[in-house]
Amino acid sequence: VLKMTELDLKGKRVLIREDLNVPVRDGKVTSDARIRASLPTIKHALEAGAKVMLMSHLGRPTEGEYDAASSLAPVAAHLAGLLGREVPLISDWLAGGFDVAEGGVVLLENVRFNVGEKKDDEALSKQMAALCDIYVMDAFGTAHRAQASTHGVAKFAPVACAGPLLAGELDALEKALDKPARPMAAIVGGSKVSTKLTVLESLSDKVDQLIVGGGIANTFLAAAGKPVGKSLCEHDLIPTAKALMDKVNIPLPVDVVVATEFAETAAATVKLVDEVAEDDMILDIGPQSAANLAALLKEAGTIIWNGPVGVFEFDQFGEGTKALSLAIAENKGFSIAGGGDTLAAVDKYGIADQVSYISTGGGAFLEFVEGKVLPAVAMLESRA
Ligand code: 3PG
Repeated sequence: VLKMTELDLKGKRVLIREDLNVPVRDGKVTSDARIRASLPTIKHALEAGAKVMLMSHLGRPTEGEYDAASSLAPVAAHLAGLLGREVPLISDWLAGGFDVAEGGVVLLENVRFNVGEKKDDEALSKQMAALCDIYVMDAFGTAHRAQASTHGVAKFAPVACAGPLLAGELDALEKALDKPARPMAAIVGGSKVSTKLTVLESLSDKVDQLIVGGGIANTFLAAAGKPVGKSLCEHDLIPTAKALMDKVNIPLPVDVVVATEFAETAAATVKLVDEVAEDDMILDIGPQSAANLAALLKEAGTIIWNGPVGVFEFDQFGEGTKALSLAIAENKGFSIAGGGDTLAAVDKYGIADQVSYISTGGGAFLEFVEGKVLPAVAMLESRA
């Protein structure tokens, strides 16, 4: 695909789609990782003398309605702080009629306030395309969505290219997946097998060890004939779990941390997997399992990590995720982490600098790992 860094941006109207969909509470951005990840792209365009228009979605507002809770105003303010300059937020931007100076930047209000954004409407895409000389797709986190601002606009813009963040994400993921250094391990945590089934299946063809955690591991424990008490477990997926265990090495926990209630103050007890009682809920892997998995991760040539292995928001059920985080930090191979919960764990255990690559994508990261074509990337390919 054509890259933004190959183009002369001086004096050009450059429309950049970023994924600035960040958590906001009481009008303040509470985690700015995605905003910071987009800074090199924005700075490059500003320094090159472009007239920069940034666009993004935030949340999932009802189309056609302004909704203050989904306004990008907190993002504009936060970005202004990071850039050390004003970032005006333009509310009515579809028809143009606003000015941007060379080397200046504006943020266009939430693209999802526009009717037709999510349906990839052609007329809307053309209106967006008419705003610019160059369209830059840089929103890796939204590249799995074929919507007007990620896909349709790229069809009609005079020039459409990939921004540095998108290009960097694709390079890192390809490096991890195409010719991975072996052994290759993946950690897939989270609550449900059903929501991660396609990623588990596709990883089972690629990796040497597939580490499962969280509620997902419970279904595998049940498939291995272990008691799971009243833990989250998808009994209808036990045959699927068995089939996966036949295909790839899935190291199951030998001990677990249980509680009789799901609460911040719940008392945690370590038990061997055979000792889980009827009223127990499994909320983390146990210390022996964590040590076994950590030893395995230290030896891995490539690690792909999506999802915690326990309820790490509560400290007494966070030791498993912490031990794996520290093992990933010590690993000398190539490690890549993606997904909202995973990044929260990376932050909580302070390993951001030791992970080789941290993806800004959640759903997009998983779809890429599954081997799916990301529609926004496919559109840039067809334009090139
Ligand atoms: C994400 O947070 O995964 C992306 O910003 C996409 O958001 P969406 O799932 O609302 O399309």
